[in-house]
Amino acid sequence: MRNCRLIYRSTARPDVLGSDQLAKLQQECDANNARLHVKGLLVVSGGHFLQVLEGAPRFVNEIFAAIAQDQRHHEVELITYEGSAKPHFYDWSMRLVDVATLPASFQAMFLKKYPHRGEVLAIPDDPLLVHSLLLDVKYALG
Ligand SMILES: Cc1cc2nc3c(=O)[nH]c(=O)nc-3n(C[C@H](O)[C@H](O)[C@H](O)COP(=O)(O)O)c2cc1C
Repeated sequence: MRNCRLIYRSTARPDVLGSDQLAKLQQECDANNARLHVKGLLVVSGGHFLQVLEGAPRFVNEIFAAIAQDQRHHEVELITYEGSAKPHFYDWSMRLVDVATLPASFQAMFLKKYPHRGEVLAIPDDPLLVHSLLLDVKYALG
């Protein structure tokens, strides 16, 4: 089956970043994505989300349509959509990770490589850097 990869970033509503709310979001993602064979990674940093979704275009598009309407975040900005893409994030239905919880050595490396505000990693504007960051986070997760 032909796969696509969709990447976007957004700004979280502050109350969504509590652990209970994030756990609820993780559950929703797991249930739907497993059913639709969609995989990916949802990165949280400095009040922003960065998410990559991979799978059949029909299902990725369907999920993204719901995500774009979701009131838990705003300023949803599509970064890249590749209509045919080799999957890279197939280990998880949707792995949610707060960058601040990753080992300090990785956080230090991220601050050297990517834009940041003080000690907080910012989600890059440049799609090439965004791809690189997602692959680095994947590597940090082991
Ligand atoms: C940052 C963010 C990421 C999300 N990612 C996914 C996702 O990967 N898969 C998914 O099914 N829903 C995701 N959602 C939730 C959807 O917006 C929506 O609430 C959900 O698909 C509705 O599921 P339901 O029809 O089972 O209630 C996300 C929401 C937010 C705010």
